[in-house]
Amino acid sequence: MSSIKFSPLIAGTMKWGEWGKKYNTEEMQTVINCCLENNISSFDHADIYGDYSTEAAFGKAFDEMKLDRQKVQFISKCGIQLLGGLRKNIIKHYDYSAAYIINSVDQSLKNLHTDYLDLFLLHRPSPLMRSDEIAEAINKLKHDGKILSFGLSNFSSSQTALISQKITVEYNQIEFSITHLDALQNGSFDYMQINNITPMCWSPLGIVFTKKNEQTAAIIKMVSKLSEKYNAAADVILLAWILRHPANILPVFGTADTARINSLMKATTIQMDLIDWFALWEAGMGEEVA
Ligand SMILES: NC(=O)c1ccc[n+]([C@@H]2O[C@H](COP(=O)([O-])OP(=O)(O)OC[C@H]3O[C@@H](n4cnc5c(N)ncnc54)[C@H](OP(=O)(O)O)[C@@H]3O)[C@@H](O)[C@H]2O)c1
Repeated sequence: MSSIKFSPLIAGTMKWGEWGKKYNTEEMQTVINCCLENNISSFDHADIYGDYSTEAAFGKAFDEMKLDRQKVQFISKCGIQLLGGLRKNIIKHYDYSAAYIINSVDQSLKNLHTDYLDLFLLHRPSPLMRSDEIAEAINKLKHDGKILSFGLSNFSSSQTALISQKITVEYNQIEFSITHLDALQNGSFDYMQINNITPMCWSPLGIVFTKKNEQTAAIIKMVSKLSEKYNAAADVILLAWILRHPANILPVFGTADTARINSLMKATTIQMDLIDWFALWEAGMGEEVA
């Protein structure tokens, strides 16, 4: 189990910059402050966010704030080589060569104006990844103090086992929500609990607020009832539902709206009743449990 103390909700920065809100430095500082005021101290990044621009935009904002680096946690990732932009790639692909991993971490450190990442993740599994080469790069980065912990993202249990043969995997950041339930049933959360891997989940609200269909209508109906019962907003209920799972999942939320962020931590104070948890699961599944 990792010794890094992440906040129970993690702020995802994917949509803060060019891929979403396009916040300027001052606006980013407002969101960083809002997170910290709410005891959300962990920030999730990736090299690619904003077409390789958001890490640096956040880093500039954070650096100017002159905050205590040790009071926040930075997560970043590498591996996806995007088309276009600065990279001149001719095809989208994954790269997990040792040199690429090390260079990417160095670039993330520069972008974020820091000398270490609290957690470094491999963004997506590649059919060509080699666990011994990855382990060599990660061991060097740890030895040099550039990363404090190591994990994966979007890896299946067998892909995680492959990497774990050569190096300890402490986290796996996967997609999970009431509209994306695979990890409950494909053994992913079981595997992580058995092997002391902490799950983080991205898109914890799924498509509940972005797509109108039969599933989301049923979920919203149930969430409204629970909102009233627990006196909490709909997004808070959806996070509380995730936090009820015994794998100690750390949700990575996406909103960069300070009004929403201000209410999110209420999710950590709700102990959802067993029957409510199953009622929401049933709404997400579209059928009762067997
Ligand atoms: N590892 C990976 O492969 C991977 C992949 C994708 C994302 N991520 C990480 O996960 C983070 C979160 O992803 P996500 O943005 O998909 O997360 P999310 O928290 O599930 O979705 C956030 C979206 O829902 C909207 N929203 C939130 N509350 C709402 C409400 N009450 N009513 C209506 N809309 C609401 C937000 O809009 P507003 O901003 O307007 O509030 C935002 O666009 C990313 O920032 C990134 O750090 C990782």
